[in-house]
Amino acid sequence: MQSRVVPLEEGEEVTPINRTNQSKLSTLRPIRVLVLFLVLCIAFSIVSIHTIRYFGINSVVTTAKSSTFRPCYEEPRSLEQWITPPSNLMHNMTDTELLWRASLVPRIKKYPFQRVRKIAFMFLTKGPLPLAPIWERFLKGHEGFYSIYVHSLPSFQANFPPSSVFYRRQIPSQISEWGRMNMCDAERRLLANALLDISNEWFILLSESCIPVYNFSVIYRYVMNSTYSYMGAFDDHGPYGRGRYNRNMAPEVYINQWRKGSQWFEVNRNLAISIVEDTIFYPKFEQFCRPSCYVDEHYFPTMLTIQAGNQLANRSITWVDWSRGGAHPATFGRLDITEEFFKRILEGHNCTYNNGFSSICFLFARKFAPSTLQPLLQVLPKLLAF
Ligand SMILES: *[C@@H]1O[C@H](CO)[C@@H](O)[C@H](O)[C@H]1NC(C)=O
Ligand SMILES: *[C@@H]1O[C@H](CO)[C@@H](O)[C@H](O)[C@H]1NC(C)=O
Ligand SMILES: *[C@@H]1O[C@H](CO)[C@@H](O)[C@H](O)[C@H]1NC(C)=O
Ligand SMILES: *[C@@H]1O[C@H](CO)[C@@H](O)[C@H](O)[C@H]1NC(C)=O
Ligand SMILES: *[C@@H]1O[C@H](CO)[C@@H](O)[C@H](O)[C@H]1NC(C)=O
Repeated sequence: MQSRVVPLEEGEEVTPINRTNQSKLSTLRPIRVLVLFLVLCIAFSIVSIHTIRYFGINSVVTTAKSSTFRPCYEEPRSLEQWITPPSNLMHNMTDTELLWRASLVPRIKKYPFQRVRKIAFMFLTKGPLPLAPIWERFLKGHEGFYSIYVHSLPSFQANFPPSSVFYRRQIPSQISEWGRMNMCDAERRLLANALLDISNEWFILLSESCIPVYNFSVIYRYVMNSTYSYMGAFDDHGPYGRGRYNRNMAPEVYINQWRKGSQWFEVNRNLAISIVEDTIFYPKFEQFCRPSCYVDEHYFPTMLTIQAGNQLANRSITWVDWSRGGAHPATFGRLDITEEFFKRILEGHNCTYNNGFSSICFLFARKFAPSTLQPLLQVLPKLLAF
């Protein structure tokens, strides 16, 4: 800023004065030249000041002024400022600016500092988080190994106390509706904000009705040790799989590449950046996947299948119950919460995990109504040791 403003002011003053001087020098006595010079100087200064005020450039001037006060022998900036996460999640960046900023990637893969990998828990909600006490309890004692981000309706005012893990973790948000592109925008916004913290390694999308079904240590180890880069449900056949494909998406997307996934996914840093930087698939999905093509079920799974198919787990680690039928999975109420119920989620599974099998299939579960909070707080700590 400094270098832009200062020469501008100099240029304005010097150029016209020189010209005037040259034309009058031959005919006027030196003293008159001096007086005229001074008058012109003053007049020009007044005009400049007014012009600047009038065009509202005064903020630029202020910025320039404050930066000139910095000593020029200032020490070089330390690495800290590049690796310390932003202390305030509220920023003034537009989505375009934010996505660009989030797509900046270091090319040297070895970090020159001790990087403790964190999980970013990203909550996509309408507003309140009725199950927040469960998450508080789940995260207690694991500070430094996780970050929280909350995207809610812009009208929602969060009022978590300073002691809460959700305190001031709200990101600048916009309206998002199920099945529409603005839902994917919200998810990319969450990813982009979380990418600004260079220590976040895994990004887990959650809703207000999600709960963890293992303690933090188990989930952290499972996720950090995963050889997959993306975990989310997959289905590439059937009416919902390929039936929603639109041929206009070719050549970017062909029908055999079309996927249906779950909105709730887990993704590592590498593929999170692919999602945030995408400009190839976004316009196709925006234009050709509109209800009843629910874009939030297709965009990321299809795009990632094309770009990084062999890194996908092709299964979800978020448990849901579709057995009751309908367009939405079952929502559980307080009477559903029993130890037997959790045995159904936790036991008797055998899932592919990395190059083998694991009895742990699901790390999270949904959907839980607000009324489940008290029974969950009773049963979960006992069941999951947290
Ligand atoms: C955003 O910009 C406005 C006006 O330029 C300013 O008042 C406000 O403090 C800024 N907010 C943040 C979070 O920087
Ligand atoms: C990954 O798994 C190994 C062996 O099971 C374990 O020792 C290690 O702590 C795990 N890594 C993390 C980050 O939990
Ligand atoms: C998931 O599916 C893709 C093809 O869509 C395949 O390349 C990949 O190996 C599959 N992943 C696993 C873990 O089977
Ligand atoms: C899990 O399933 C695979 C193949 O379906 C089988 O080879 C393996 O033994 C099973 N593991 C357990 C613990 O049941
Ligand atoms: C987390 O759960 C595992 C198994 O469920 C248990 O062995 C472990 O002690 C628990 N960890 C903590 C920190 O409570």
